[in-house]
Amino acid sequence: MSEYLLEAQDIVKTFPGVRALNGVNLRIRKGETHALVGENGAGKSTLMLTLGGVYKPDSGQILLNGSPVTFSSSHDAVSQGISVVYQELSMIPALSVAENIFANRQPVGALGMIKRREMMKKASELLALFDLEDIDPATPVGNLSLATQQVIEILKAISTNPAVLILDEPTSSLTEHEASRLFENIARLNARGISCIYISHHLSEIFKVAQSVTILRDGTYVCDARVSDIDEEFLISNMVGRTLVDIYGRRPDPATFGAVRLDVQNLSRAGEFSQVHFQLKAGEIVGFSGLVGAGRTEVALALFGATQRDSGKVFLDGKEIRPKSPRDAILSGLGYLTEDRKQHGLYLDFDIRQNLVSNQLHRFTIGALMNDRAIDQAAATAIADYRIATKSAKRNVRMLSGGNQQKVLLGAWIGIEPKVLIVDEPTRGVDIGARSEIYGFLRQLAAKGTAIMVISSDLTEILGISDRIVVMKGGRIAGEVEGATATEESVISLATATKPTGGNH
Ligand SMILES: Nc1ncnc2c1ncn2[C@@H]1O[C@H](COP(=O)(O)OP(=O)(O)OP(=O)(O)O)[C@@H](O)[C@H]1O
Ligand SMILES: [Mg+2]
Repeated sequence: MSEYLLEAQDIVKTFPGVRALNGVNLRIRKGETHALVGENGAGKSTLMLTLGGVYKPDSGQILLNGSPVTFSSSHDAVSQGISVVYQELSMIPALSVAENIFANRQPVGALGMIKRREMMKKASELLALFDLEDIDPATPVGNLSLATQQVIEILKAISTNPAVLILDEPTSSLTEHEASRLFENIARLNARGISCIYISHHLSEIFKVAQSVTILRDGTYVCDARVSDIDEEFLISNMVGRTLVDIYGRRPDPATFGAVRLDVQNLSRAGEFSQVHFQLKAGEIVGFSGLVGAGRTEVALALFGATQRDSGKVFLDGKEIRPKSPRDAILSGLGYLTEDRKQHGLYLDFDIRQNLVSNQLHRFTIGALMNDRAIDQAAATAIADYRIATKSAKRNVRMLSGGNQQKVLLGAWIGIEPKVLIVDEPTRGVDIGARSEIYGFLRQLAAKGTAIMVISSDLTEILGISDRIVVMKGGRIAGEVEGATATEESVISLATATKPTGGNH
């Protein structure tokens, strides 16, 4: 018997023009959680899709319990004990929670009838693992929040009783509570002898869930290590190939900020937020913190004209604005990078260059014609500036790794140099090296006079990047703290404080 439950040896996988994996190794012991880390485009998801039977490797082999195996399909991999929660959600919105969990494997009785009651009961038991017993397993998945859908995706994988459970960035859209339930559940699975492979760009998580780790860089295997022998700096320097100091850069002197650019007065929208008021100055980066459901994204959508406010006023450079649509908002000088890049942000079936110029077409037209030369040049600059991992600007955005898609989206918004830019979860799924670059680009944009509003659930990011932090709670402004002196405690206590608000939230 091999010491390892699952082994990948010297795996090579190429796509047209890209060598995604170039001789990669991975070894996992029974009952342990093994982390897989690497920058965007390093090959993590490709390796998981190979272990999950979706891709056939060009060469190399996979060993299960010491014996070589091949998978003819993802179904085949599941039946041999490997279950994957992919980076992209795969739920069918119109089907119920239970139907999604047991898709194609519903419990069947003697006469070939699906045992509906048993399926519902099993689904409820699975939901209870995440304190979600309140959810009726008959609810269509499309009615549930993104975070809950992500949990159901995980439950679906667990329900197949795998020997190895693979989780590709499972926490990217989870709330903090669900993430900590996930860590408990992973530990429980490990105790039952089930192994996990865990991918995340939140390096601190690696130290909470994993016992061992493999580092990939640019499709190649760098090393593996016991987590107890290493620290975050070791991970970063091996992932990035250099050390990163102070990824947030330096805060400018508040005296250098200009006039108020965005002045929000008593903004309300029934059921979402009320009496919201704040100001953003030219050059300033203001972080918006709060628990999930505090109303930050809802405020952003109203400012951007995607929804309409019930009352209140908004002034941009002293002039009142009331955008009827996002197009209106863009024309008056606002930009908004959405938290859900798949739904609202990117044109997945268009290439990188088209996406990069999509918000600023007027700059790239000569009369009625597109100025292709100028677009090519702008795209080449953006690809270099943001280090978007691609051989060509003419690749469909769908083919890029998750973090690289995020960079394209950010490049598209920063490119229009808006007067006010709202960024919602700007670095979700983005690796640490690229994150430090993105913070640099936001700082540069601010230095040119843009006022920036950063909404983020990552408190470390909020504390690192913000000149000032506005905390929201239950649809209202709970308070403000200075970025330079803010602490995790000061922000959390505002976000969770129970003081009577007198409102109907
Ligand atoms: N179906 C595909 N066709 C062409 N190229 C692909 C395909 N899937 C992945 N690639 C390329 O292979 C490389 C590795 O991508 P992969 O998705 O495995 O990276 P990753 O490590 O998961 O990154 P991230 O952290 O951003 O999710 C990238 O250059 C990517 O553009
Ligand atoms: Mg990936």
